Amino acid sequence: MLILGIETSCDETSVAILEHRGQNNLEIRANLIASQIEAHQLFGGVVPEIASRKHLEILNPLLETLWSEAKIAPRELDLSGVTSGPGLSGALLVGVAAGKALGYALQKPVRAVNHVEGHLVSTFLAHPDLELPMLALVVSGGHTDLILMRDFGAFERLGRTRDDAAGEAFDKVARALGLEIPGGPNLETLARQGNERAFHFGRSNLEPSFDFSYSGLKTAASQAFKKAPEQVADIAASFQRAAIAQLRHQVARALDEFSPATFGLCGGVAANGALRASLNQICAEKGVAFAVPPPILCTDNAAMIGAAAFFRARSEGFPAFDLAQLDFEARSVWPVG
Ligand code: KG4
Ligand code: ZN
Repeated sequence: MLILGIETSCDETSVAILEHRGQNNLEIRANLIASQIEAHQLFGGVVPEIASRKHLEILNPLLETLWSEAKIAPRELDLSGVTSGPGLSGALLVGVAAGKALGYALQKPVRAVNHVEGHLVSTFLAHPDLELPMLALVVSGGHTDLILMRDFGAFERLGRTRDDAAGEAFDKVARALGLEIPGGPNLETLARQGNERAFHFGRSNLEPSFDFSYSGLKTAASQAFKKAPEQVADIAASFQRAAIAQLRHQVARALDEFSPATFGLCGGVAANGALRASLNQICAEKGVAFAVPPPILCTDNAAMIGAAAFFRARSEGFPAFDLAQLDFEARSVWPVG
């Protein structure tokens, strides 16, 4: 079975082909990612109008490259999945239109995929044998969700951010510290040169909930920089330490309360080496399997979208194509589960 994934929810245009190899094993035949970062760099952040234009320019040529890289013809596809939300409406629309057009032309099943669900199942691409239930932390530029996955399609959101997403806080603090985009990775690089104990940024206490909050930390780090700009590396390191401490604390509590078989770390911020090490350690202490995809599958990509489409379609017995499948729109807001 061959599956196509299409992702255009933010500033990455991505298309991928997966091949199902039995059970939860999905082999990535090709996963092409065209980043628009340079187009947005001048503006210090993602400009939605530019994002949709860039997707429109690149998507068809990228699909042409995909068929040749994966060595398949479009008619050989069995299923497509396209991100239909959450994300930037105009950006999503480009992928949604492409997915529908392909499905209709080929008369092959198409699924609308929730982007956060894509991040969640990206763990299976790296660890196909992982055991459920899985407690997963999805940390990206738009989301900070703690989710309990009991089965495919059975997700319960335990906690979420009450203000900024973790990646958004990394990006905003990076900007306040005068770093270029991509803010998160640049902040991580700078943090390596700083003393993470130079500043004490407190951790917000939202217990008994499993929620998160980043706006206080973001403000504290930005103000520290105004007072002591020469200590920029120390501020980056101390911010990163506090940001991770909050995630770690809530994850540890949820591991104790729900005793999952696996803990999954996913989303763009999961590319952060210090976060990976910290959560790996806590899982080792508690004897829980730790599943984290390689960084290229943590940030936005279409392989995870194809995977989410496959798992959903499988749990419904792989319905054949029908026109009603095309009855979906771009959804800027779409809570997982
Ligand atoms: O999943 P993703 O590619 O897009 C969204 O769905 O939002 O995540 C992008 C986010 C950005 O906020 C980016 O700064 C952050 O992930 N990020 C990082 C790192 N790499 C990406 N944050 C901290 N450290 C990193 N190494
Ligand atoms: Zn994402």
